[in-house]
Amino acid sequence: MTGLVVAMDGPSGSGKSSASRGVARALGLRYLDTGAMYRAITWWMLERGVDLTDPGAIAARAMEPVLSMGTDPDAPSVAVDGVDAAVAIRTSEVTAAVSAVSAVPEVRRRLVAEQREVIGAGDIVVEGRDIGTVVTPDAPVKIYLTASADARALRRTAELTGTTVEAQKAAMARRDTLDSTRKADPLSMAADAVELDTTALNLEEVIAVVLRVIKEKA
Ligand code: DC
Repeated sequence: MTGLVVAMDGPSGSGKSSASRGVARALGLRYLDTGAMYRAITWWMLERGVDLTDPGAIAARAMEPVLSMGTDPDAPSVAVDGVDAAVAIRTSEVTAAVSAVSAVPEVRRRLVAEQREVIGAGDIVVEGRDIGTVVTPDAPVKIYLTASADARALRRTAELTGTTVEAQKAAMARRDTLDSTRKADPLSMAADAVELDTTALNLEEVIAVVLRVIKEKA
């Protein structure tokens, strides 16, 4: 399957990351987590005390951090200015700040260009919010994962410590609103995407459905 690009979009907690990695592994494809790129820029800015309430301040430094993304689905990696940031980008501080950074058009322009570079000739599963709509509108396979608010909050709570399902539900609702109402490339489903509700499915079932879609489409 040369040149295949699988675009996996959807909100957080929809099961995108695990499913994307599982699909990449099953087909021997590379894997790119574009959310990790937005998180990495956010972490770098937090470390440097950039005022994240000021889009102008974010835009002014958007090109500075040097990102390096590893695309092995068994060991995806992210480095910023040569420093491994895989753990640092998953803190609640970064999670709370990332919507503000990812809403800034200069940040998006930069990262979309880098994502297209990584995608290159394909053979890759790419997960994010705007992959099928903006990054690779020509991808032959586009999946849009959804799940109920309760299921998403439950999954997120299981991944984190020191939080509750109710707190996660409220935080996700805030993030969804920010991600889907921002002016630059909001979270939305591509017209030609296959929508998959994962609420009642386990990981193996989600992967199986996606593999079936790929077989039909690619
Ligand atoms: O998937 P995630 O939760 O790690 O993504 C972190 C944030 O980055 C999320 O709030 C939305 C943003 N994001 C984006 O705007 N576009 C993408 N392609 C991927 C993520």
